Amino acid sequence: MPLLGIGTWELRGKPCERAVRTALEIGYRHIDTAHLYDNHKDIREAMRGFPREQLFLTSKFLPSHLENETIAKSCDRALQELGIDYLDLFLIHYPDRELPMKPMAQELERLKEKGKIRAWGVSNFTVRHLKDMLEWGFSPAANQVEFHPYLYQRELLEYCNKQNIRLIAYRSLGKGALVADPLVEQIAESHGKTITQILLRWAIEKEIPVIPKASSKKHLEENFAIFDFKLKKADVEKLDTLKLQHRFCQTGWSDFEYK
Ligand SMILES: NC(=O)c1ccc[n+]([C@@H]2O[C@H](COP(=O)([O-])OP(=O)(O)OC[C@H]3O[C@@H](n4cnc5c(N)ncnc54)[C@H](OP(=O)(O)O)[C@@H]3O)[C@@H](O)[C@H]2O)c1
Repeated sequence: MPLLGIGTWELRGKPCERAVRTALEIGYRHIDTAHLYDNHKDIREAMRGFPREQLFLTSKFLPSHLENETIAKSCDRALQELGIDYLDLFLIHYPDRELPMKPMAQELERLKEKGKIRAWGVSNFTVRHLKDMLEWGFSPAANQVEFHPYLYQRELLEYCNKQNIRLIAYRSLGKGALVADPLVEQIAESHGKTITQILLRWAIEKEIPVIPKASSKKHLEENFAIFDFKLKKADVEKLDTLKLQHRFCQTGWSDFEYK
């Protein structure tokens, strides 16, 4: 999985197609989408001409939609909309303990056996949700969660690393709220880099893939230029120990208190 991808939440239609196309032209090879984002077809247009095998594509299904559509159908629909014959990663978008999660994992394993997905994983899972999955005998390949210096989920990261579950960071820029952060600014100035680049670099130095969403070429290029410098030990210590911990993603479906 490439360490840098483009997130596509709230990108739809021509702006989505333009942003993803521009990202691919810059050199991005990892695209994060979901049924919820309603942009598979736009991404399909953006990917035209780029060899499938060079791209890493993640999509997600909503467990709440399983009343209307099986996971297999949801996967087929994603493949058809994206114009591809396999997904690199298919994620359960969030945990819902009121639904039968174990059969979901079983169905995902079957999709993997059939070659429709290379791997399956989860998103927004806490350590406790992951422990449940492992106890049932299923091992997700990845857990995509909110993760940045202001929500450094150290225990979750350590657990994922120990269990060979790849933690993927979303909302690395706090949906834009962190790109003017004064604490990170001092570090950015000392490297001649931007705050955004420091935030992304902080994660990738921990081998955590990041998927910042950006619509303009300027932002996409800036976010791509994070492989030509290294944070100092003191920078990392500072970012690792920020006192204020804040979750930007607060939703009705969150189950973050399950510990
Ligand atoms: N699994 C889940 O439940 C879940 C939840 C949330 C997000 N995600 C995934 O993670 C991706 C990223 O999260 P997110 O979209 O919520 O927020 P984000 O990536 O933290 O922030 C996106 C915002 O930052 C701005 N931005 C990007 N690059 C910038 C730069 N270099 N300088 C200044 N501003 C910049 C963007 O502006 P412009 O658009 O104007 O460039 C946009 O407003 C999503 O798109 C989605 O793919 C997954």
